[in-house]
Amino acid sequence: MLVCRSIAEIRSAVRDFRAAGQTVGLVPTMGALHDGHLSLVAAAKAAKDAVVATIFVNPTQFGNPDDLLKYPRTEQEDLAKLEAAGVAAVFMPPVHEMYPEGAETIVETTQLANMLHGLVRPGHYRGVCTIVTKLFNIVMADNAYFGEKDYQQLQVIRRMALDLNVPTAVHGVPTVREADGLAMSSRNVRLSPEDRAASIVLNASLTRAEEVAAGGGTIEQIDAAIRDTINAEPRARLTGVDIVQAFTLQPVTGRPSGTIGIMISAEFGPEDNTVLLIDQREITL
Ligand code: PAF
Repeated sequence: MLVCRSIAEIRSAVRDFRAAGQTVGLVPTMGALHDGHLSLVAAAKAAKDAVVATIFVNPTQFGNPDDLLKYPRTEQEDLAKLEAAGVAAVFMPPVHEMYPEGAETIVETTQLANMLHGLVRPGHYRGVCTIVTKLFNIVMADNAYFGEKDYQQLQVIRRMALDLNVPTAVHGVPTVREADGLAMSSRNVRLSPEDRAASIVLNASLTRAEEVAAGGGTIEQIDAAIRDTINAEPRARLTGVDIVQAFTLQPVTGRPSGTIGIMISAEFGPEDNTVLLIDQREITL
């Protein structure tokens, strides 16, 4: 597995994969890899792509400098996992390679980035779109793979790629869960054992929501099922429930039909060391 730290090196590696007749699959990550990330690599391998994974903790998508500092960095373990998963090349640039002195251009989806989760994290999806556009332009992959867990991020990236005529095909990959149902996330390691046990309430609330929806429930009833389940767990502080149309993220009212997305978020832990977890489920009725 090649480890490239400069744009020139990764471009040269991609040229070699193409010269050997391979398609290229991009798996962008911020490191601290878990099985969720490895499922993106597996999807790329299943498509027979030469897999280019990127590890870059992107400063422009963090509103809070403390969050950026606390973001787990596990470079050696990450490289070992990617190599074992059959990745062909890893691009892990330093910050100045991605944002050289004087960089001022941003990429933003004007609506999808500034609603729902984007309202609590202003600028977050602008940072994501900017870095993902740069990675698309650097790697020029045939395919790129993103987790469905950050449901809004996936829709933002799909929209951006469509609007900017990005030739790379964007693929969503289903959320990978721990045995007890907690969605895998790099943040899970920051949970105390008690909060880790309590965090299964997120997935439990989505299962409850799905039951209510399948039983013909209204949006109000689905919303109440989620809130009641999470509020019954004293260690969880519910911060968001959004029930939206798939792809457009527009609100849904009444008795839903077609495909809806449910996005939830909750905080765990003390005020000075809060861990924000998100989860999501897409339901077709
Ligand atoms: O989902 C992530 O890990 C990041 O937002 C991404 C897509 C790698 C951009 O930094």
